[in-house]
Amino acid sequence: MSGQRPTQAPEAQATTPAWLVSPAGPLRGNVAVRGSKNAVTKHLVAALLGLTPSTISNCPDIGDVDITANMLRALGCEVQLRNGVATIDSTSLSSCRVPVRFSGMNRIPILMVGPLLHRVGEAFVPLVGGDDIGSRPIDFHVDALRRMGAEITLTQDGLEAKATRLRGAHIELPYPSVGATETVLLTGCLAQGRTVLDNAATEPEVIELALFLQRMGARIELRPNRRIVIEGVEELSGAAHHLKGDRIEAFSYLVAGLITGGEVRVHGCSQERLVTAISTLSGMGARFEITDSSVSARADKLQPAAVETDTHPGFMTDWQSPMVALFTQCDGLSVMYETVYENRFTYVPALKKMGAQIELYNNPLGSIQSRFVGSATPCSVVVRGGQPLHGADVEVPDIRGGFAYVLAAAAAEGSTTITGTHHLDRGYNHPIENFASLGLDIKRIDVPVADHL
Ligand code: EPU
Repeated sequence: MSGQRPTQAPEAQATTPAWLVSPAGPLRGNVAVRGSKNAVTKHLVAALLGLTPSTISNCPDIGDVDITANMLRALGCEVQLRNGVATIDSTSLSSCRVPVRFSGMNRIPILMVGPLLHRVGEAFVPLVGGDDIGSRPIDFHVDALRRMGAEITLTQDGLEAKATRLRGAHIELPYPSVGATETVLLTGCLAQGRTVLDNAATEPEVIELALFLQRMGARIELRPNRRIVIEGVEELSGAAHHLKGDRIEAFSYLVAGLITGGEVRVHGCSQERLVTAISTLSGMGARFEITDSSVSARADKLQPAAVETDTHPGFMTDWQSPMVALFTQCDGLSVMYETVYENRFTYVPALKKMGAQIELYNNPLGSIQSRFVGSATPCSVVVRGGQPLHGADVEVPDIRGGFAYVLAAAAAEGSTTITGTHHLDRGYNHPIENFASLGLDIKRIDVPVADHL
């Protein structure tokens, strides 16, 4: 015996995908946004209601579209995605059960319940997922579906539903929820009789869906004071729609220019979708050039601000994290109060790791009454801006927080390695290419799992 231990091949170290961002000065140039993540998937679901195929164009090339298309395929629908055009033929629908493997992938399955009940009389959808930004219950959806005649059982795996014939009802939402409004729209249009929805969400993506359903033959009235009235019809046919631009992406790229002292011109998202974003940034000193087809922003110096998120037409919650990233580069104290979600500051510790001076508060620092009184999670932040940021290794907690990291990394000294980028791939259309075209040094890499963070 030589005493030597047999040599073993070294085990391959597990790696995880990451983005490596190295700042390269002010970001300048043009970005074209596609249709919005939060409208495209709902249009795909609406196509389930049509007796003929629907065509949705200007679709973003994002993970959420693939996930939703695969859910529809699992139900037997034919879905083709080519060059940003989705064609959905639901005449071949053969199942009313969305497989459990889609559990936790996004927020879309719950929206399929109404359409599946109309088509088949039964439905199973796995538990909803999406970003971890608070408890995100589905009680408004379930209550609305029950009021319209669905029998619903919540199981460990998801939601089982049955209905012989859904009927119209008078529903008042406790809060103008985007998803619950969409559930009522998608369910009411083929229900027997009239549905009156009060305290409905009026986000542009919700109205876009209502207009698409109208194109399919639905009888929908948008009344004042958050009321929607739907007269049920016997059948809907397929329709075609060119999706409107993603206002979350548009705002985020405008901030990319501002946070680095550059100027980004965003194409494909109309001014009317950005009114509050533009007025808020203008109040901070940004100067805009707005045309019928594009919006650009630049600033010599930005003032701090106090902002609270709200339902439309307020400052949207999905603009919150890019804005907080921007606050870190505005001299003085800024305040952000989140009122839509219970826990949407999970990205803040990573910004602090990059040198941002941010304090989290559990009490509301704004005028809107909090819906989360007594919550243990922070609802407000105070940012001491004007401090230099530096690169760090950070992990994305949710899609919008992740984009804030890229923005901060673009304005920092040194490189930042961002893991958990699957969140970003689920919701942004070709972000690496867009940032690179603006001059950012950004690339996809693989990093060893153990070495990171
Ligand atoms: N809520 C309930 N019960 C429900 C439904 C909602 O309590 O049954 C509460 C939520 O917990 C939240 C508030 O109502 O506190 C608003 O939630 P909403 O239903 O409006 O949100 P959602 O439909 O789940 C969509 C977008 C979000 C966006 C919000 C608000 C999609 C797929 N998601 O979510 O987008 O922030 O509306 O505009 O459309 C994102 O894109 O990053 C994102 C989170």
